Amino acid sequence: MSQLSQKHLLGIKDITRKDIELIFETAASFKEVINRPIKKVPSLRDITIANIFFENSTRTKLSFELAEKRLSADIINFSSSGSSVKKGETLLDTVNNILAMKVDMVVMRHSSPGAPHFLAKHIDATIVNAGDGTHEHPTQALLDTFSIHQKYGSLEGLKVAIIGDILHSRVAISNILALKLLGAEVMVCGPNTLLPKYIGSLGVKVELDVKSALQWCDIANVLRIQLERQQIKYFPSLREYSLYYGINKRLLEEVDKEITIMHPGPINRGVELNSDVADSNHSIILEQVENGVAVRMAVLYLLAGRH
Ligand code: CP
Repeated sequence: MSQLSQKHLLGIKDITRKDIELIFETAASFKEVINRPIKKVPSLRDITIANIFFENSTRTKLSFELAEKRLSADIINFSSSGSSVKKGETLLDTVNNILAMKVDMVVMRHSSPGAPHFLAKHIDATIVNAGDGTHEHPTQALLDTFSIHQKYGSLEGLKVAIIGDILHSRVAISNILALKLLGAEVMVCGPNTLLPKYIGSLGVKVELDVKSALQWCDIANVLRIQLERQQIKYFPSLREYSLYYGINKRLLEEVDKEITIMHPGPINRGVELNSDVADSNHSIILEQVENGVAVRMAVLYLLAGRH
């Protein structure tokens, strides 16, 4: 069996184009499986997976859980609210207690950048990063690029604009790394205050005007304003942000070209994206969610093969 180059999936930074191609190939097979009347395979029957979420999640948590169930893994779910973390237990103690129950793989979301990397140094189980603070969200980038691959057949030479709050976005960083590995051209667009100073060093174009970004791109991946990570004001008001950076039907008609609209969710409707675009046939947002299950099945299956 072909294998991934890494024991863990901590970030796109650590994997190769070959790894991504293997994940896509495997995900395409699993996509067929989950569209059959019997959606389950016995591939991970002997594997126990702990999903440990120290930060809120809807899509990622449900998607991993469904992927694990479709692969017949045994699973346990942990969320920090209602746990002994509230009594002062450390991350390492919490995870070691979970691992003492003979867990093979850990899927972890944490608000601190580097938390899954820290764990990977201290425990034997395979770790999958389900989002660490503002750092990386590798499975989101894999499902986003897989969705583009499914629609266009290849990412080579495609122009992708990532629009919104780049400064606080782990999705942006992981997407930039994955898109560039696969040969796409990448632009980031947002107000100057929401673009990190180092962003040019990642080899992306930078654009402040959303209409120019839309005129340039084939695909726009629109990101949410992450108010929960903002300690200071980066723009005067959400209304003003929406006026200058919100994507609506009128703006797309002015640009007058075929653009695919993506969003990792959750959407703040009426802020970064209007319903007349989010729910239109330009949008592949729900395909992204569907593909997320197949991609996460592929990641878990391939990592378990190394286990
Ligand atoms: N896209 C994403 O990570 O969504 P959740 O925060 O709901 O998991």
